[in-house]
Amino acid sequence: MSAQDQSDHIAEAAENIPDVEDTDYPIRIRGLTNAFGNFVVHEHLDLDVRKGEILGIVGGSGTGKSVLMRSIIGLQRPSEGAIDVFGRDIVEAEPDEEIGVRSRWGVLFQGGALFSTLTVAENVQVPLKQFYPELDQELLDEIARYKVVLTGLPENAAAKFPSELSGGMKKRAGLARALALDPELLFLDEPTAGLDPVGAAKFDELLRELTDTLGLTVFLITHDLDTLYAICDRVAVLADKKVIAIGTIPELLQTDHPWIQEYFNGPRSRAAAESHDRGKALDKTAGEGS
Ligand SMILES: Nc1ncnc2c1ncn2[C@@H]1O[C@H](COP(=O)(O)OP(=O)(O)OP(=O)(O)O)[C@@H](O)[C@H]1O
Ligand SMILES: [Mg+2]
Repeated sequence: MSAQDQSDHIAEAAENIPDVEDTDYPIRIRGLTNAFGNFVVHEHLDLDVRKGEILGIVGGSGTGKSVLMRSIIGLQRPSEGAIDVFGRDIVEAEPDEEIGVRSRWGVLFQGGALFSTLTVAENVQVPLKQFYPELDQELLDEIARYKVVLTGLPENAAAKFPSELSGGMKKRAGLARALALDPELLFLDEPTAGLDPVGAAKFDELLRELTDTLGLTVFLITHDLDTLYAICDRVAVLADKKVIAIGTIPELLQTDHPWIQEYFNGPRSRAAAESHDRGKALDKTAGEGS
């Protein structure tokens, strides 16, 4: 496809995005197609992310969850379709327009690599220096310290190198870096992968709390069924190159797509659901006791 054709397709899809307040839907995607050569990952995919929600993104390995995230943040140019972030067309955005939108989101990539030669504080300062080169070092240090503590790390973690941190601490440091610019929108790709269940549950709790207190909207790619039950407001299922369903878990259970049934009705999902219900019952008992 020529660049002109690609632009025409994208412009056409942009017209299909309903004209509602951008604050209601920080992300709106219409007719998204992503391909690597002849290999099509997404085909005419639509998705709306609501303000203030934690939206879980699930799908088998290789269904294109990470590619979807990369296209929303402008790292993967689609062959067709339109992606609006905060009401701006991210695909066709001019560089100066894009930079304004970019400073409103934070990202934790799959694998979440921190720069190994920088301390945690210096890692957090990377996006700050990029967007606000005029900030002086004292202020940078102050902001970094605040973000480190915000994510539940001890203050002395700021001066440590990634190799000196546990897996769970690295995830928190990655989150601190993603929060550096006080984003409204957070992209997290498998943030609890590799953590033990207790560490993962603590990370989930932190994420829910930060989302509610900071008023974030979270695009959360995860395989973790406990995470889906515990903190996601809705879940979007990626399969057959599209978002085949989106809704709460009870809503998803009513669809008869085989992958959804297998995923949410399998033994692992039932265990996660039961543990979530048990947790809620315990909370209730504790609440009544106080
Ligand atoms: N830069 C690239 N060049 C070619 N193919 C790619 C590229 N990036 C991703 N792909 C392919 O696109 C498909 C979707 O990849 P993606 O990384 O989005 O999967 P995923 O759903 O995130 O999987 P996982 O759950 O394993 O992380 C895969 O088949 C992958 O091989
Ligand atoms: Mg991935």
